[in-house]
Amino acid sequence: MISLPDTLHPYEIKSSLDTKRIGKTIHYFEEISSTNDYAKKLAQNAFEDGEVIIAGTQKSGRGRFSREWISPPNKGIYISLLLKPQISFENITQLTLFTALAICNALEEYVGINLEIKWPNDILLNSKKICGILTEISGEVDKINHVIIGFGINVNFDKVDFDDTLKNKATSLKIETSKTQDRKKIIQHILTVFDKYYEDYLNGENFENILKQYKSKMTIIEKNIVISIHNNTPASGTVIDITNSGALKIKMSDGSVKEFLSGEISLNPILD
Ligand code: BTN
Repeated sequence: MISLPDTLHPYEIKSSLDTKRIGKTIHYFEEISSTNDYAKKLAQNAFEDGEVIIAGTQKSGRGRFSREWISPPNKGIYISLLLKPQISFENITQLTLFTALAICNALEEYVGINLEIKWPNDILLNSKKICGILTEISGEVDKINHVIIGFGINVNFDKVDFDDTLKNKATSLKIETSKTQDRKKIIQHILTVFDKYYEDYLNGENFENILKQYKSKMTIIEKNIVISIHNNTPASGTVIDITNSGALKIKMSDGSVKEFLSGEISLNPILD
């Protein structure tokens, strides 16, 4: 049997892509600094809503909180979506939430696994991270110019691909399923599911249904957690709910109730 190389060229991805908006234009690079950085460059000129940037590897892949995102060649999915949704700034968290849900549902369906979402948008498999999303926005107060949604999925990483700090926190689809996964098919599936959610969202579909599904993938409701916000001292409390705008509602340890639109959470090691 001849095995074809596992490449992600635009014509292969497009060959069976059933989308209205996402991926009509796909930019592919065997190697790039960061797909989010390239999307930012594209956004300086005219672009279509839903352009997709894919890389075989990234030399300076970025995660949230300016962390490095490791991107071993041809083993992961490194993608950015360049969008220009006609929505207000306060609805961006909803966009981030349904992106996580779309990726989560697409992976569960295609790979046949059960996943968990760690608010706001990490995806975990067997309690370890397999996907992270970096959303970057540009615009003025009342008008969004563009949104870049970059996501990285650890698809066919082997254990040696993770450094010591990540070994216990991250994993890959291949490690957990003992099977090399088809990155092209996974991308096609995710783009198709995302396209549907995006269309519904832009057409004013009620967010409640998305939120309900999102909450069913979360395991931290009623748990004691610690939340860190960039440069601030971490605070602890009990998660009450996710609000309709996607904020995490927490009963803080001093009894006050606060809503957070971003941040990084972990289970409180003292109480849980
Ligand atoms: C996180 O910290 O969890 C978010 C990680 C996002 C990584 C992706 S890989 C494709 C895109 N390009 C980047 O430089 N980062 C995002």
